[in-house]
Amino acid sequence: MTDSQARHWEVELTMLGPGVSEAVAWAGLVVERASNATLTDSAGRDYLDLMGGAGVNLVGHSNPGYVNALHRQLDAWMIGAHASVSRLEALRGLTALLPPELDRVQFYSGGAEAVEAAIRLAKSATGKFEILSFWRGFHGRTAGALAATGGARAGLGPAMTGVHSTPYANCYRCPLKTTYPGCGLACVDLAREALREQSSGSLAAILVEPVQGRSGNVVPPPGYLPALRELADEHDALLIADESMTGLGRTGAILASEPAKPDIAVLGKGMGNGYPVSAIAASSAVMTAGPFGAPSASSSSYGGFPLAGAAVAAVTRIVRDQRLADRADAAGSEFLALLRELIPERGIVGQIRGAGLAVGIELVTDTRGPLGKRELRAVFDRLLGVGVLVMTGGGTLRLYPPLTIDRDELTRAAQLIAAVLTTWTS
Ligand SMILES: Cc1ncc(COP(=O)(O)O)c(C=O)c1O
Repeated sequence: MTDSQARHWEVELTMLGPGVSEAVAWAGLVVERASNATLTDSAGRDYLDLMGGAGVNLVGHSNPGYVNALHRQLDAWMIGAHASVSRLEALRGLTALLPPELDRVQFYSGGAEAVEAAIRLAKSATGKFEILSFWRGFHGRTAGALAATGGARAGLGPAMTGVHSTPYANCYRCPLKTTYPGCGLACVDLAREALREQSSGSLAAILVEPVQGRSGNVVPPPGYLPALRELADEHDALLIADESMTGLGRTGAILASEPAKPDIAVLGKGMGNGYPVSAIAASSAVMTAGPFGAPSASSSSYGGFPLAGAAVAAVTRIVRDQRLADRADAAGSEFLALLRELIPERGIVGQIRGAGLAVGIELVTDTRGPLGKRELRAVFDRLLGVGVLVMTGGGTLRLYPPLTIDRDELTRAAQLIAAVLTTWTS
């Protein structure tokens, strides 16, 4: 951070609430412009942006097709949830990419708002009210989403009632101290048991991230999501896949939860590529259930405004035309293999994992506990010093390059990260 950038932050923070994203505050960047996977700060320094606005940068900063579409819509009109060509294109674009059974879409403005809508919809469609979510999961900071989020509730009083929470399939740190596949997905059995013990028999939905983002891009083993599907079916409950972070190609598939056939998918982040738009997608039968499906019962001021439509239409067009899910799958596998080749899983590096272009490098202490905040920040700073901006979470470096990133840039990112981690001494 230059002196002038430090002064800029100092001034902003006299007026801005201090609860900003920790990694953004750590970086302390004052950004001037951005292009694809590169951020340029006010001192003219370039950074490889693997933070991507916390996984938002799906089709690249300032992607020309996207920018032009938004400019055109801005010139035309921007206020009102009336029908528009851009919203129609967005709906066509989304439903063409999504599994055919998810044929209805309702738009919102942010991830947490869409999670809330998914919970309300599940309650409407089932007539029941309980939710099962998972340890260390993240679904947002509004009251209902927070109740389903792991931790982050201290000091905020009682959470929404009826939310059960059991361990996620985090095989690196299995809370049940078992090993996959020998465990036979013991965490799902525990969830079944917990519901038997605790539920009032009114489970509306299981809410799950197909890859847990904030806890460090934790990728569950094969069979986990389908096993949750079965559990939901046993309770005549819905399966809600929170794909805010993973949807539209990030993990190498349009939906990371596809094998589990979710009843409701929550989309956000990358679907707007910077424009604040989110959505839930469900079948017509589910989406029209009352009271959610009643007139005005599920609208929001900005949901489906024309600029949102233009953003989603552009993103879905780019994802489809450039086959970005396939690209994320191929480039992500190569990136992961290169990281594993260059960075042995020892010393400070506990595990390198990922799905497509959502990668986690879990950093650990000498006793393989999660790395403390101070040392994590030191690693973060060292990476920033060599021009690599990452996201953090749960003692893990989280990497979210745009799906349009050049292969050479991924190689350079892997080399720079390896140079820092393999020579790490605190
Ligand atoms: C999986 C998941 N769901 C929901 C949210 C909340 O999204 P927003 O910050 O847009 O409210 C996030 C944000 O990180 C997320 O990762």
